[in-house]
Amino acid sequence: MIKLHDKFFKPFIAAKQIDDAITRMAEQIAVDFADEVPVFIGVLNGSFMVVSDFVKKYPKPCEVTFIKLASYEGVKSTEDIQRLIGLTQDLSGRSVVILEDIIDTGGTLAEIHRIFKNENVKSLTIATLFYKPTAYKKDFKLHYVGIEIPDKFIVGYGLDYDGLGRNLPEVYQIKTTQHMTNLVLFGPPGAGKGTQANFLKEKYDLVHISTGDVFRYNIKNETALGMLAKSYMDKGELVPDQVTIEMLSAEVEKNAGANGFIFDGFPRTSAQAAALQELMHSKDSEINAMIALEVEDSILIERLLERGKTSGRSDDADESIISNRIKEYYSKTAILKDYYSEQDRYFGVDGVGSVEEITERLSTVIDAL
Ligand code: IMP
Ligand code: MG
Repeated sequence: MIKLHDKFFKPFIAAKQIDDAITRMAEQIAVDFADEVPVFIGVLNGSFMVVSDFVKKYPKPCEVTFIKLASYEGVKSTEDIQRLIGLTQDLSGRSVVILEDIIDTGGTLAEIHRIFKNENVKSLTIATLFYKPTAYKKDFKLHYVGIEIPDKFIVGYGLDYDGLGRNLPEVYQIKTTQHMTNLVLFGPPGAGKGTQANFLKEKYDLVHISTGDVFRYNIKNETALGMLAKSYMDKGELVPDQVTIEMLSAEVEKNAGANGFIFDGFPRTSAQAAALQELMHSKDSEINAMIALEVEDSILIERLLERGKTSGRSDDADESIISNRIKEYYSKTAILKDYYSEQDRYFGVDGVGSVEEITERLSTVIDAL
């Protein structure tokens, strides 16, 4: 996913697909214009990549030139189109092929037809790489269309959003759903994960999804998924990942308008991490980061023993039990650390300091996502 100005875009058409479409168009046009030397006219700025790649694939002699006419700002097609710049060549009697990057409403195309009416060309042919049939409002024939696309804003391969994105070799489509920040929060026992999750939830307006809570909720309310999960637990078996994912999916669905989620207690394996990523992708989103609070073992032990004095939790009272819990944490999370590191999505944050200091450090990571 990429961000240009204030908008988010997701991968839509790969470079290879674009290349194939342009190859098809070039070959077809070469056949249809077998006996002449056509003049290809690119409409700037957007068409510079299309034209460049197209003429390289055009197997026969041709001429190529550019004109410029549209002023196009933001994501809405402007009604008033600037006048033509750059047509200095005499085109009378020539076969002109307009090479467009994209035809949307057809406004630009109407201008082109108006302009070329007085040029006494032999023929005026329209070829466009992208075409949005549901947005098109004119009757002009489109002789060659590379790829038909839905009426959603795209960038890349010459197309821009307010100046950015033209240089991308593939095409991205605007994300219409709100952007979310989704975190997987980790920390060894005693690292202060719960405290920090509460602060982050408030600060970024995120929904905290603790897998343990989700399980308890579903079982207590006897939901279909809860009963299914319980049937495995009663047999002493592990609840299959698919069941857990479906519960989380329902939870994400329930909070569809959220700014994002903090996942806590899940994933535990790389298969689960992949399943979670797939779930978020299906919601037009993704897991942006795994953030782990890092605290030295001796400090954790100290903190937990201190907590044990007042909490009465038996597992906080015994140093060897505490040590074991910490060891188990590291053996379980090592895989996930690798998984997210490979995607540059692992962030270790120093968990020693005041609550505010640690929140500050976490915020630095989140703000940079
Ligand atoms: P039309 O005049 O509505 O057909 O739009 C043509 C022009 O609008 C193109 O040459 C582009 O400059 C711009 N445009 C239309 N749709 C898009 C898009 O999805 N992304 C970027 N530019 C677009
Ligand atoms: Mg254009």
